[in-house]
Amino acid sequence: MRKIIPLFILIFLVAPRVQAQSKMEWFQDAKLGIFIHWGLYSVEGISESWAFYNGYLSHEDYLQQRNGFGAENYDPQAWVELIAASGAKYTVITSKHHEGFALWDTKYGNLNAVEHAKAKRDVLTPFVNAVRDKGLQLGLYFSLPDWSHLNYTHHTKDKKRYTIANDPQRWKKYRKYMLGQLNELSKKYSPNLWWFDGDWEHSAEEWGVEEIKTLLTKNSANVIFNSRLNGKGDYDTPEIGVPVYRPKAPYWELCVTMNDSWGYQKTDTNYKTSLQVMDLFVDCISKGGNLLLDIGPKADGTLPKEQQDLLKALGQWTKKHGSAIYGTRKGIPYDHFYGPTALSKDKKTLYLYVRDVPKDGKLVLKGISNRINVAYVVGEGSMLQKQTLCKVYWNKYPGITYIELPPESIDPYYTVVALKLDGEIDLFGSTTGAIEQN
Ligand code: GLC
Repeated sequence: MRKIIPLFILIFLVAPRVQAQSKMEWFQDAKLGIFIHWGLYSVEGISESWAFYNGYLSHEDYLQQRNGFGAENYDPQAWVELIAASGAKYTVITSKHHEGFALWDTKYGNLNAVEHAKAKRDVLTPFVNAVRDKGLQLGLYFSLPDWSHLNYTHHTKDKKRYTIANDPQRWKKYRKYMLGQLNELSKKYSPNLWWFDGDWEHSAEEWGVEEIKTLLTKNSANVIFNSRLNGKGDYDTPEIGVPVYRPKAPYWELCVTMNDSWGYQKTDTNYKTSLQVMDLFVDCISKGGNLLLDIGPKADGTLPKEQQDLLKALGQWTKKHGSAIYGTRKGIPYDHFYGPTALSKDKKTLYLYVRDVPKDGKLVLKGISNRINVAYVVGEGSMLQKQTLCKVYWNKYPGITYIELPPESIDPYYTVVALKLDGEIDLFGSTTGAIEQN
């Protein structure tokens, strides 16, 4: 007897997945975000929060930086212009890092930019307004730990104030403070994305991850959470290194620094070149992820020249190659093309990202069963010549296609070739044996 699943049960089963997929769509399409680490640490140009946690200086001396955090030349519109010009579709700013310094006018705790720093003003709200005006998506970074707060368990690497088991009441007080700030941020700014950090110090039960998520989805059902909620978020956040193998997770974002530091560090000159940043970006695109590239403004609110230049260079490339970036999905295995690739959402266009031009100027594509209707250079338009070898009418093997790239079409960063296929991409995966009839 055939069993018929009632429609309402089917809807019940499928709906949550469809909803999860659609709430993630803007994120998956966005490809590029800009991370901002701005806080007390930018004053002396030392490592964010970790400087005192690791004992490089005392907590007291670290907090002295409040007298230098002035934001005198802070121009949030200019930041946002630069971010948008880089081609980023979203931005994530540190509302509060592990040391507990809040950039907004919070009524919780006693460490914020309005009452406890030279700036004497809320520096988060004007940024959020500029982001909204520009139509970018807003992400708020929030550190679950607050190493300065007297009711928080950890103070430094060597000093814990208490354990939750020994003083559950004290932990309750800390959670009340943390939830108070989260509620405040959620109500004031309704971010599109929450970027949590520091979950490693406690379990999901201790943080109350479910309660946090319920609170933050109350007013914005479609808000996205990164996975630093003890793994209970919507997308993975590998840090610093692009995953070598294409991640299994459907959604992920690589967060990475331009030099080796998140915040502004005066002695760190180990900047990546614009081509090296592009290498990371293309690697993320081809593996189906996003790049969240970090900038670290100085305490007066200005951005180091190197960082501005990298954002501008990215902008040059993204402006020309938009169709091969936004809304794309992960590419095909390297067995078919020795380099990064991506597919359009409908899987009918294959993009090849060419960093270095082969010595005969020809790109080699193997085992694509589709007909290639047209091959052209993205953002430039030249139609490209193709030659297919090892394809005979009596064999299913689709052959090897050589695509010729004219030297005039080469981009200073990555040249992108689009291949319009006759349908959804069809990869040939069999081996052929002796052909007995031809
Ligand atoms: C780490 C660090 C932190 C930095 C963050 C960015 O978890 O603790 O300093 O803000 O990663 O991804």
